[in-house]
Amino acid sequence: MNDAFITNLPKAELHLHIEGSLEPELMFALAERNKVAIPFKSVEDVRAAYSFTNLQTFLDIYHAGAAVLQTEEDFRDLAVAYFDRVAQDGVIHAEIFFDPQTHTHRGIPFDVVARGLFAGIDEAQEKHGMSVGLIMSFLRHLDEEDAFKTFAQAEPWLDQFIGVGLDSSEVGHPPSKFARVFAASADAGLMLCAHAGEEGPPAYIHEALDILQVDRIDHGNRALEDPALVARLARDAMTLTVCPLSNVALRNVDKLENHPIDRMLDLGLRATIHSDDPAYFGGYIGENFRQTARAKTLSREQVVTLARNSFLGSFLDDDALSGHL
Ligand code: ADE
Ligand code: ZN
Repeated sequence: MNDAFITNLPKAELHLHIEGSLEPELMFALAERNKVAIPFKSVEDVRAAYSFTNLQTFLDIYHAGAAVLQTEEDFRDLAVAYFDRVAQDGVIHAEIFFDPQTHTHRGIPFDVVARGLFAGIDEAQEKHGMSVGLIMSFLRHLDEEDAFKTFAQAEPWLDQFIGVGLDSSEVGHPPSKFARVFAASADAGLMLCAHAGEEGPPAYIHEALDILQVDRIDHGNRALEDPALVARLARDAMTLTVCPLSNVALRNVDKLENHPIDRMLDLGLRATIHSDDPAYFGGYIGENFRQTARAKTLSREQVVTLARNSFLGSFLDDDALSGHL
């Protein structure tokens, strides 16, 4: 299967942290523009620091890198750079995460972040004809009270977000910790996503389903350890937004050749392929598709199924969806 076929295949990006699309070049430009000190001398220096042994070693660098994002214009530039990039990867619809607490905790007002990202989204819609939804993610290493504070700050924006998510350090921070704020989010009409089973045990995926009542599971790889859970996810056509290059970079999978994406499809799971934090993990959604297809010798049919699943797993309504299938 040639790369151009994979690249041009229409896709929906469902698992992308916009802060994780901050390329070293933009990090340097923003550091200079905002007179923010960063602990790197050059772009090469930054890239050399991107060697991770687990999720936490990545998150420490990811949160540090976000310090250069200060103004509305910075968030807009970040988003525009991302959409310009993936318009070349066949992405026609994107549902992207942002982490408000990463910014509010360093004194950047919620509204600055939201206004900047929506300006970037408006530009993407105009320039590329892409449809875009924004998902507000709660940082799970913080407590639920902090998530509720964020939810209150988000109040004027809630009807513009499509959903909420749950990310950051997974082990020790089970979904049940956020039961009330997820219930409040559902009451506000928002769709629900949670990272689960990336590093955490299958029990966290059960909690995301039973306690948070999520509409989508981000990652979900460790479901494969629990056959009854696999059967349930398959029966319910629950989407798992899988990120192969992330899984290898964070050592959840030793090499792409051993990634279980093909097993997931064989088991009847609605798995999709996404990029997570492309500036840190070596590739955007197209690169994730191409490298995985090559390493796993996926068939054309499997690649088409993965792309189709990205639309089936999206929060598009039936009318919009039928135009994409
Ligand atoms: N935040 C950004 N990327 C993440 C990941 N892969 N897992 C959890 N939180 C994240
Ligand atoms: Zn993620």
